[in-house]
Amino acid sequence: MELTLNNPADTDWAPQTKVDLQAFNTLSLPAQAAFYCQLQQISDLFAAQQYCQAQELNWMLLGGGSNVVLTDDFNGLVMHMQLSGKNWLTPEQLHHPPAVDDDNLVYLSVGAGEHWDELVAWSLDQGAYGLQNLSLIPGLVGAAPIQNIGAYGVELAHVLHEVMVFDFATGKQFSLSAEQCELAYRDSIFKRQSNWLVVNVTLALSRKPQIQIDYGDIAAHLEATVSIPSAQITPQQVRDAVIAIRRQKLPDPANIPNVGSFFKNPVVSIDKAEQIRSQWPQLVAYKQTNQQVKIAAGWLIDQLGWRGYNKAGVGVHKHQALVLVQLANSPNKSTGLELLNLAQQIQADVERHFGIRLAVEPRLFANTGEISIDAI
Ligand code: EPU
Repeated sequence: MELTLNNPADTDWAPQTKVDLQAFNTLSLPAQAAFYCQLQQISDLFAAQQYCQAQELNWMLLGGGSNVVLTDDFNGLVMHMQLSGKNWLTPEQLHHPPAVDDDNLVYLSVGAGEHWDELVAWSLDQGAYGLQNLSLIPGLVGAAPIQNIGAYGVELAHVLHEVMVFDFATGKQFSLSAEQCELAYRDSIFKRQSNWLVVNVTLALSRKPQIQIDYGDIAAHLEATVSIPSAQITPQQVRDAVIAIRRQKLPDPANIPNVGSFFKNPVVSIDKAEQIRSQWPQLVAYKQTNQQVKIAAGWLIDQLGWRGYNKAGVGVHKHQALVLVQLANSPNKSTGLELLNLAQQIQADVERHFGIRLAVEPRLFANTGEISIDAI
C-alpha cells in the first residue's frame, strides 16, 4: 500500500561532517563518516534523501551497529536510525488485514529506532507475549525484519504483521505484509532491495502466553532454576532463562566487541549431512523440512580448533566459535579487514574439511557502500 508524501523536506537541512563511528558499532571498529545525521522523525529521512540526491552522495543506514562490519571510512552520508514510538493498533488500523480472527492477538506498531531488548521487556510488562525467546538480541527494532532475527526456536517471522518501508530511490513510503517481506532463515527481501529502509514494524503479539522451551538448554535451565511444571512457566521466566543462557555463551559487546554469530548455520541435503557424519559422528545438525538439514556452524568451526584463537587483535570467542571478536581496542584502521581475513581463513578451513562454504551473517561496508566478503 502506498502512502501520500506529505513531509516536504527542509531546504536548510544539512548533515554533520566527519563523525567518528567507533562508538556506533558493536565491533568498535574505527571508521569515520564523511557526512552523518540522526533520523529522529520521518521528515529527517525525506531531507536526507533529497540531500543525497542533490549532492549525488552514497548513503548507508546505521541502526544499533550490532550487525555491521566497517572496513573503512564511509565517503557518503551515514543516517543513524532513531525513529521512536510504540502504539497499539486496532485490526482496522492495520494496512494489511489480519489473516486469522484471533481475539487474543494485539497489534503493536514500533518505530525502527526503538531498542529491541527494551521492547521485549516492555511488551512482557504489558502482558503482550511472543517476544520472550528473542530476549537480549542486540540492536534496534528496524533491523529485526532485515535478517529475520531468531533465537531459541523463535524467529521474528512468527510475530511480524507488517513493515513500513521508505524507498530511498523514490522518497515514497509503503507498507509490506509479513508475507511480502519474504522472511527466511536470517534472510528477507530487504537484503535484495538495497534502497528500502525499514521505518516502522508492526508485531502481532498474544494476550495468551505460548511457551516454547524445547530448544537447546532452555528446559534444562528452567528445571534447574525454577523447577515448576512446564504448564506453569511464565514468559518472564523464559526471558530470564534466555538471558542467562545468552550471557554464558555470548560475549557482551561492551566488554568484548562482537556482532554475534559471524556465519549463518548452513542448510544442506540429508545426503551431505550423512556424508559428513560418517567421518564426524558427533555432528550437530537439525532436520528441516524439504529433506534438508541445518548444521551448527559453530560446531564445525570448533572441531577445527578455532575456538579461542587470537591473532592480530581479532579472534574467535572462547565459549562460542561462531562469534568473532575484536580483542585489541586499537585505533588500527585495518581491524575490520583483519577480522574479514580471519573470517576467510575459517571459511577456507571449513570448506576444505567439510565441503561446506559458510555464508557471512553481518553486513559488510567499505568506503562507498555494502560489499561481499568475496570482494576483499
Ligand atoms: N557448538 C559447539 N561449539 C561452539 C559453538 C556451538 O560445539 O563453539 C554447538 C553447541 O554445543 C550446540 C550447537 O553447536 O550443540 C548450536 O550452538 P548454539 O545453541 O550456541 O547456537 P548456534 O546455532 O551457534 C544460533 C543463532 C544464534 C542464536 C542461537 C540460539 C545463527 C547464525 N545463530 O546459534 O543467533 O542466539 O542459535 O538460538 O543462527 C546471531 O544471529 O547473532 C545469534 C547469536
